[in-house]
Amino acid sequence: MSVILAIESSCDDTSVAICNNGKITANVIANQTIHQNYGGVIPELASRVHQQNIVPAVQQALINAKVTKQDINAVAFTRGPGLLGSLLVGVSFAKSFALALNIPLISVNHMHAHILAHFIDDPKPGFPFICLTVSGGHTQIVLVKDYFDMEIIGETLDDAAGEAFDKTAKLLALPYPGGPLIDKHAQHGNPFAFKFAEPQIADLNFSFSGFKTSVLYFIRRQEKENPNFIAENLDDICASVQHSIVQILLNKLKKAAKQYGINEIAIAGGVSANSGLRNGLQQTADELGWKVYIPAFQYCTDNAGMIAIAGYQKYLKQDFVGQDVSPMARMEF
Ligand code: KG4
Ligand code: ZN
Repeated sequence: MSVILAIESSCDDTSVAICNNGKITANVIANQTIHQNYGGVIPELASRVHQQNIVPAVQQALINAKVTKQDINAVAFTRGPGLLGSLLVGVSFAKSFALALNIPLISVNHMHAHILAHFIDDPKPGFPFICLTVSGGHTQIVLVKDYFDMEIIGETLDDAAGEAFDKTAKLLALPYPGGPLIDKHAQHGNPFAFKFAEPQIADLNFSFSGFKTSVLYFIRRQEKENPNFIAENLDDICASVQHSIVQILLNKLKKAAKQYGINEIAIAGGVSANSGLRNGLQQTADELGWKVYIPAFQYCTDNAGMIAIAGYQKYLKQDFVGQDVSPMARMEF
């Protein structure tokens, strides 16, 4: 029997989850809207808001899961990678909670957890599988051999896929985070209306900086001729941007699947909430005979449910850390 309380505070979402014998029974996510005023996450503000949110989020998670503090057997927390000030809040809270209740601490790598979110609900992938992890900070193709035996076989050399969405959204004067808004507008637009530069990277790595510059120059050129270009073509621009990013991601995923002879394919991270990517992946799966795994929306973007399920796997192995553990902004994979 195990009840694990999990804390996620790596960026701008304060999240607390409970895993009861391998089942997620609470997943509270307190979003921080304050960053919308600045067009991106302000680290100093994020850590302050985590401080305000964390105790109410823990209380709500206990209520939702119908357990008390005394029922908790271990505390799992995100050690990294992430914003140091944000991580510090979660790590410090987890340590205090574990010390007060005299229970073990479990440290979780945020990027492992995005992938292990696939073990929350059925159907669960079989090992080995390939996972495309696409978030605001990372773009990785990972060969997953076991729960904690993973190898990065491709990654971005510059911007992450989420950044490509968010930065192009900023060019279009859409508020932060722009990814979900591009997705929304794209649903009413023509994905073939405009074409942007495609990165030419030979291996399984990605590059999005040239793509972003190509969108910037395209918009500037068009606005010279028609100052209302963005307003008049927003849906088509969003659909075309989204289509290009999705094609870049899917092409590399196809290459990885072929190279490794694997047809169990998963996606994870905030950008896996994107409808174009979800549909494109399903279509590719139908064409190539892949079995695909797409997480439920609440487990795509940052959430403590994924930390709780990773923590559960570590709890089964009694893989604990001591009170001297510190957060790591750049944590090894
Ligand atoms: O995994 P996540 O919540 O945080 C990080 O660890 O970075 O990912 C956040 C990223 C943001 O860049 C956001 O714009 C993007 O995921 N995102 C989306 C969608 N939902 C979230 N991008 C495109 N379409 C979406 N529907
Ligand atoms: Zn994340």
